[in-house]
Amino acid sequence: MERLTSPPRLMIVSDLDDTMVEHRNDNENHSLLRFNSLWEDAYRHDSLLVFSTGRAKKMYKKLRKERPLLTPDVIVTSVGTEISYGESMVPDENWVEIMNNKWNRGIVEEETSKFPELTLQAETEQMPHKLSFHVDKSKVQEVTKELYERLEKRGLEIKIIFSGGIALDVIPKGGGKGQALAYLLNKLKTEGKLPLNTLVCGDSGNDTELFTIPDVYGVLVSNAQEELLEWYAENGKHNSNIIHASERCASGIIEAIGQFKLGPNLSPRDVSDFLECKADNVNPGHEVVEFFLFYERWRRGEVENCEAYTESLKASCDPAGVFVHPSGAEKLLRDTIDELGKYHGDKKDKKFRVWTDQVLATETTPGTWIVKLAKWEQTGNERKCCTTTVKFTSKENEGFVWENVQQTWSEESEVKDDSNWII
Ligand code: GLC
Ligand code: MG
Repeated sequence: MERLTSPPRLMIVSDLDDTMVEHRNDNENHSLLRFNSLWEDAYRHDSLLVFSTGRAKKMYKKLRKERPLLTPDVIVTSVGTEISYGESMVPDENWVEIMNNKWNRGIVEEETSKFPELTLQAETEQMPHKLSFHVDKSKVQEVTKELYERLEKRGLEIKIIFSGGIALDVIPKGGGKGQALAYLLNKLKTEGKLPLNTLVCGDSGNDTELFTIPDVYGVLVSNAQEELLEWYAENGKHNSNIIHASERCASGIIEAIGQFKLGPNLSPRDVSDFLECKADNVNPGHEVVEFFLFYERWRRGEVENCEAYTESLKASCDPAGVFVHPSGAEKLLRDTIDELGKYHGDKKDKKFRVWTDQVLATETTPGTWIVKLAKWEQTGNERKCCTTTVKFTSKENEGFVWENVQQTWSEESEVKDDSNWII
């Protein structure tokens, strides 16, 4: 959050499973990729992305390997009982203290074990401030009431959350996705960085609290679960700041951005011809997002194999501009574009996807920009990631000129293959 010096324009706080990430109908990750390019293109530089998930950190990392997830600024894991910051996920120790209040894991374990209705979830789901079970829907009310009473008698203050028609979590009373968000908002406020707008996004019971935080916009994705829809029917319907989207998952989030007029809502992935929409480009990050999208479409054979495209790209490169490959080898940028020309359609039907993450532009001297990003490439199940640095210059009314592109293999890259010689 330090990278921002003024209040973020938008803070999105989104659940992952079945909200940001579609698990049912979208094995090409179409809606997630739409969201990703919109975020990197229009929001990354002045906004905050927060993921708030029921998953523990380990399971979140697993999901990151399976799906093209962006890197959030803040990650709230284990149903709002852990908060961590930045790419390296530095835990908020202060939040840990808050979670310890009137909490004793041993006692919760002891009391819950007396309920035959509760089946413990896998070991990977059990965390210091979260015990998770499966329970039959018909037993939830009864078990919840009784458990609250027993734990209260033993001096604890806890919260029980029912999600997805099956999962029951026991966490400290001060925890949960809503409390974690309230804490973050308060922290940002103290730093003078209260977001201009906040949008919360969810699909199931453990997301309910997010919608109860004052002054936030909210979207229930179209595929929301019964328990959240029930809450909405009773409490949310008359609040015009909360909508039930007509689109599923990440597409529902984009829909809400548009509906609440929170900023641009046209994903670059929804634009078919980039050559036509050059005019209002004032951000070199946009240039990079579009280029890699074009690169994906070119190799998937989804854009026409015509020279006008490659010529237009070459025209935006400095004639002496250089591309430095992760292997350390160098080539002129214009030659690299010529090389790319030969790869039209080579990834057709190969489940090839390219996405950009953490696209951040800095104007180092007037008219000179450095854009840094992580560029991901996936073919089938094989993934590569390059840390990419692009230098641009810009003259008034003339657009951006690519001066230099440098790539190195990212730590996160599963494959570090130096043989492939394109960008
Ligand atoms: C996630 C967690 C699980 C929890 C559920 C509902 O799926 O992995 O432990 O019970 O969210 O909060
Ligand atoms: Mg969910």
